[in-house]
Amino acid sequence: MTSLADVAVIGGSGLYALLDDAQEHMVDTPYGPPSDPITVATVHNRRVAFLPRHGKDHRFPPHRIPYRANLWALKEIGVSQVLAPCAVGGLRPELGPGTFVVPDQLIDRTTARTQTFYDDGAVHVNFADPYCATGREVVHKTAAEHGIETQTGTMVVVEGPRFSTRAESRWYTSIGGAVVNMTGHPEAVLARELALCYTSIALVTDLDAGVEGEHGVTQEEVFRVFRENTDRLRALLLDVIPRLPEQPDDPCRHALDGLR
Ligand code: ADE
Repeated sequence: MTSLADVAVIGGSGLYALLDDAQEHMVDTPYGPPSDPITVATVHNRRVAFLPRHGKDHRFPPHRIPYRANLWALKEIGVSQVLAPCAVGGLRPELGPGTFVVPDQLIDRTTARTQTFYDDGAVHVNFADPYCATGREVVHKTAAEHGIETQTGTMVVVEGPRFSTRAESRWYTSIGGAVVNMTGHPEAVLARELALCYTSIALVTDLDAGVEGEHGVTQEEVFRVFRENTDRLRALLLDVIPRLPEQPDDPCRHALDGLR
């Protein structure tokens, strides 16, 4: 397939559309169809693809998202860099609702998801640094120009769909977690297995249950706070896109060198 886009945004809860005047593309993959048709448009001279992770009507809960089909389809249409906004819970009191976190590390606490494309033959990708260093830097700098203070830290990814108990939540904080969510994995590792740059942009929608004085998370709160911040997030994404390198040459792009 000829290249349709080089940058993709995988939208999270509450971000179901991003691009104006977009063309819709149905892409099939060996893993079935992605969550939705992919929309493609030009943003500041860059060809950009958008895919809502949960589907436009939010029909896929986190543990049922077709992660492999989504990443494969983006690679198939020429994408080399992925921006991945998502809703997260804060694991520390200073990371309250409305905070933007650009994670630099990930702890996988999922239990029942296929997390590789390589079922036949040994392909062990380097995942020491799960996120693209260039993408992260561009997001931090662009956010600062928007007057948005960004934090960094470790994202813990849980299986869900339930939220965590207080004990689990306290434990995630004690092992170094800054934020917790349900969709950051296996998305990040599947991107790495396809040698795509992958940058997570986490918007805190709640303080998780283990944070002192918290009532426990509700779905209503997560969706409401995400909605309240969608305009800021959209503006940030649209400004990050043209600042991403046109020919990225990060280690992410070399993840498969010498492996196959
Ligand atoms: N997504 C948003 N908030 C969350 C939380 N507290 N735990 C897991 N996933 C989340």
